[in-house]
Amino acid sequence: MDPKTLKIEAARAALAYVEDGMKLGIGTGSTAEEFVRLLAVRVGAGLKVIGVPTSERTAALCNELGVPLTTLDDEPALDLVIDGADEIDPQLSLIKGGGGALLREKIVAAASRRMIVIADKSKLVSELGAFPLPVEVNRFGLKATELAISAAVAGLGLNCDFGLRMTGDEPFVTDGGHLIIDASFGRIRDARALSEALHAIPGVVEHGLFLGLADVAIVAAESGIETITANRH
Ligand code: A5P
Repeated sequence: MDPKTLKIEAARAALAYVEDGMKLGIGTGSTAEEFVRLLAVRVGAGLKVIGVPTSERTAALCNELGVPLTTLDDEPALDLVIDGADEIDPQLSLIKGGGGALLREKIVAAASRRMIVIADKSKLVSELGAFPLPVEVNRFGLKATELAISAAVAGLGLNCDFGLRMTGDEPFVTDGGHLIIDASFGRIRDARALSEALHAIPGVVEHGLFLGLADVAIVAAESGIETITANRH
């Protein structure tokens, strides 16, 4: 099965968790887009939901397909967010932000009672870190922030190569007007310590480690759908 078919199957399985009347966070990325397409069909058939998109890109697709939207200001407490991920470990710790939407994705996930991650099996890893960690940074003081990230990472005994995300010749700019540094660690042994160290740097707006946020991962493989539930004990 090709990756797109697997993404569609994961998205289809997640629809089973969507109930009439729900306030939904709607993720970003190619897998979340498949979810939006399937959700739009259900909405067309009469399902009543209202969504908060995690990016301008997702908002545009929802508008195009007729999925009703609101804002987090109007609906600050959501029932469920459904989103993709770049890496998922066995504890359902995630790396997100490959599409650059990590800040809004994390705000929406934190505002949601439950988070369901949808993915094809290529996203399952035993340890996070092969995918470069996106770190959203303020434009002001970029070099100082890069130095601070280097120092923080070295202080944790980690090696890291990092680079500013580009779109052609220009820096990639997030929906919030920030920049993204992609940090390659290879493996992240202590994600919590790295998260705290990055959060302590003033120029870091947010990073793509999603720890303790995902409740369920729906992972599609050729052999079928695997549903993994977070063990929070
Ligand atoms: C967007 O910023 C990301 O967090 C995506 O959720 C993640 O990159 C997964 O995207 P795909 O579904 O396209 O792999």
